[in-house]
Amino acid sequence: MTAILLGGAGRTGSRIHDRLRRAGRPVSYASRRTGFDWDDPSTWTPAITSATALYVCYSPDLACPGVAEKMAALGRAALSAGVERLVLLSGRGEQGARASEDALRDAGVPTAVLRCSWFQQNFSEHFLAGPVRRGRLRLPAPDVREAFVDLDDVADAAVVALTGERPDDATYELSGPELLTFADAAAVLASAMGRPVTFEPATVTDFVADLALDGIPSDEAEPLAHLFTEILDGRNASITEGVERMLQRPPSTFAAYAQRAAAAGAWA
Ligand SMILES: NC(=O)c1ccc[n+]([C@@H]2O[C@H](COP(=O)([O-])OP(=O)(O)OC[C@H]3O[C@@H](n4cnc5c(N)ncnc54)[C@H](OP(=O)(O)O)[C@@H]3O)[C@@H](O)[C@H]2O)c1
Repeated sequence: MTAILLGGAGRTGSRIHDRLRRAGRPVSYASRRTGFDWDDPSTWTPAITSATALYVCYSPDLACPGVAEKMAALGRAALSAGVERLVLLSGRGEQGARASEDALRDAGVPTAVLRCSWFQQNFSEHFLAGPVRRGRLRLPAPDVREAFVDLDDVADAAVVALTGERPDDATYELSGPELLTFADAAAVLASAMGRPVTFEPATVTDFVADLALDGIPSDEAEPLAHLFTEILDGRNASITEGVERMLQRPPSTFAAYAQRAAAAGAWA
């Protein structure tokens, strides 16, 4: 198995890379910094020719308009290049993402889809890190529960899919083990950090203003607000068995993540 991680230098990809490297498996990244660009299909075949397994992590989001067409083309390129298996990072409850999953599979390369809940690490490694550090989560989030999933569980699952004895053609819904509102999450974070983290429902304008404090421009913040206003309507308010199915162990809790991140100085 030679794995290439497409769009794989980020939060999920770096974790998968570390795990494969530690296991002595051949693995490399492909992203703009290595000449691979989702917006330039002429860069795709050169990036994947030596791969037998591909991890596919699309940026900014698999649900964006036009991505299904790109996934269909990538599937065909992978088949021609002799790739034996694909592992696709996807999101739960997104119609556009579902179309991209189907399009990638259509070419016929066995595809394991990891359809994930909200990442726990959004609170420490992504757009919510600054608000948590300042102790004030102002979010356009309804009073809905989400089963936040640990990226270390997602990475462990991706490694299983990339290295399993036979290529897997299946979809796994990956979630954490409990349903929490954002107010619940704030309370867990406060307890792990040993200082207050408040949660207030807010407008999209307030949310965008808070993210601007961390240098996140409005053209990035506004699509993130969409995640709160569209996806978090209760459609994903259920716990799934994907992590247990793939890893034969329960998923990691939000409290365990929060304690680990606090101990590592994520909000210092
Ligand atoms: N956040 C969530 O809660 C959540 C939940 C479910 C699913 N997802 C999905 O997770 C994915 C993001 O995963 P992640 O957090 O691991 O990613 P990430 O940390 O944002 O990393 C993305 C990587 O993609 C590369 N990249 C960006 N634009 C590119 C382009 N045009 N061409 C090639 N590479 C590009 C970047 O490297 P370079 O700068 O070198 O190009 C970066 O290393 C998205 O598809 C999202 O929909 C997220």
